Amino acid sequence: MARNKVTIVGAGNVGATCAHWIASKELADVVLVDIVEGAAKGKALDLAESGPVMNFDLNIVGSKDYEATAGSDVVVITAGVPRKKDPVTGQYPSRDDLVKTNQKIVGEVSREVAKHSPDAVLIVVSNPLDAMCHVVLQESGFPSQRVIGQAGSLDTARYKTFIAMELGVSVRDIHGIVLGGHGDTMVPLPRHTSVAGIPVRELMAEDTLQAIIQRTRSGGGEIVGLLGYSGFYAPAAGTVEMVEAVLKDQKRLIPSAVYLSGEYGYDGLYIGVPAVLGAGGVERVIEMQLNDEEKAMLDNSADAVKSVVEVLGY
Ligand code: NAI
Ligand code: 2OP
Repeated sequence: MARNKVTIVGAGNVGATCAHWIASKELADVVLVDIVEGAAKGKALDLAESGPVMNFDLNIVGSKDYEATAGSDVVVITAGVPRKKDPVTGQYPSRDDLVKTNQKIVGEVSREVAKHSPDAVLIVVSNPLDAMCHVVLQESGFPSQRVIGQAGSLDTARYKTFIAMELGVSVRDIHGIVLGGHGDTMVPLPRHTSVAGIPVRELMAEDTLQAIIQRTRSGGGEIVGLLGYSGFYAPAAGTVEMVEAVLKDQKRLIPSAVYLSGEYGYDGLYIGVPAVLGAGGVERVIEMQLNDEEKAMLDNSADAVKSVVEVLGY
């Protein structure tokens, strides 16, 4: 059987950590691509050199050219620039300027990726996540089933972590789901959260639960506040969960940013919903029975995503 091949575009913190998790799980050969050639080649070589100790046997290479990526089964897109102060003016770029900058980067990447790996499933990580999914869909020309955004996997992981920490139980026993856009309007669903089947509301006070929901919504910012830049272990873990689901055709139900064509009442919009991921990418969207309050929160999140998508000008 041929080995699987995964390309990761952007050999920065998230991209390199994705490569690390993929290698440690021995999921696939890895190609790291970055405009900074030394970063892609250096991190790939460094990771490959850990194989004899960590016991994985994979081809891990770095490049700035897309020829090396040809025929990938999955491509993870993490390329982009973060929101940071201009060293000269001391100003942050406006949201719209940042969207446009990353649209250009992610657009170029998508066209190259599509040319060299026309059958791949593309997993988008670059921010602003839901809008960048629209860019990848548009510029790759791929069917929407093969363009998926990573957000819900990470956001749900953070939510579960905080519940486990509060209750002093294993994270393995926490079940829950977070829908919506990847931002502070995301929608953690306490009604669908349990600890080994016990409704979470039986185990903690409502104000504690609401504080956890709020902490989840600002989970990315909490890490930025500590590190000065965004997190990468959990974002990469969430991404590799999706990569594995596709490579192994696992039919995992993972909340993911998927292109909706009428589901949940949205048409032509990427937003986080429960999706069955397998070899074909998004194989099915699960439509949950949300109550009025939950649907209103999802509508609010969809409006926030739409306002960013409008900046793209498609
Ligand atoms: P980083 O700055 O460490 O890495 C980004 C890499 O992209 C850099 O190595 C840069 O050289 C490369 N790059 C820039 N333009 C490129 C191009 N045209 N072609 C190839 N490579 C290019 O950033 P980090 O922390 O790895 O984050 C990457 C992206 O993922 C950011 O947009 C970030 O906001 C986003 N992110 C999304 C999360 C999610 O849950 N969806 C979670 C965490 C980060
Ligand atoms: C995060 O949630 C910044 O999207 C990034 O960590």
